[in-house]
Amino acid sequence: MKKILSILILMSVLTLHGTSATADIKLPAPQTEGGMGLFEALKKRASAPGGDFPTSPLSLEELSSILWAATGLNRGETGWTVPMALGLPPYVDVYAALENGIFLYDYRANSLVEISKTDIRGKIGMQRFVASAPCSLIFVANAKSLSEINDEPHKREFSDAAAGAMTQDVYLASAALGIGARYIDSIKEDEIKSAASLPEDDRVICLMMLGK
Ligand SMILES: Cc1cc2nc3c(=O)[nH]c(=O)nc-3n(C[C@H](O)[C@H](O)[C@H](O)COP(=O)(O)O)c2cc1C
Repeated sequence: MKKILSILILMSVLTLHGTSATADIKLPAPQTEGGMGLFEALKKRASAPGGDFPTSPLSLEELSSILWAATGLNRGETGWTVPMALGLPPYVDVYAALENGIFLYDYRANSLVEISKTDIRGKIGMQRFVASAPCSLIFVANAKSLSEINDEPHKREFSDAAAGAMTQDVYLASAALGIGARYIDSIKEDEIKSAASLPEDDRVICLMMLGK
């Protein structure tokens, strides 16, 4: 009995410390002040060329700042950097495809939650150069979060508008930080959904390649 109890305690300690399975990433605090002014960033906003995309990875702090710009909390528990219809919490999720796997951005915990250890960066875009980005953000309309909206056209309109606001924030934050970014619509949705085990009714909207 004592032996079984010790094994159970050991198993729960291992699970708590994450050594048994997942490798979530606690992000450093994002940059939320200083840096390039908004109007200068607007002047600099541009897509980095796909064929000659910068291939150096972002630091975790840079990634944290860009994710915060995309959909971080900016005032208390229910205010985000992007507007959401009906004041709902964000119904577009942001995933990061990195060398060490696929991660879901958790804006509350400011962390990346490991979804898979698979490196899918080479399989997500129709254009070959998409594979060269050290990081790609994937924007996904979350069907469960959109369930309060009754009809399909509004679900689509609201989630596309959210992805537009999020990706523009990513472009601006990238310009301010000197990071290359490119919006990609030509994606392999089935590959992404299968690798990230997304629910059937979630919809992958677009990607943003990031590199420096
Ligand atoms: C809705 C949308 C879809 C896009 N899809 C792709 C794409 O699939 N592949 C690509 O290389 N660039 C894509 N782009 C990037 C555009 O080609 C790019 O924004 C455009 O050439 C203008 O350049 P700029 O962003 O530097 O102003 C897309 C941009 C938008 C807004």
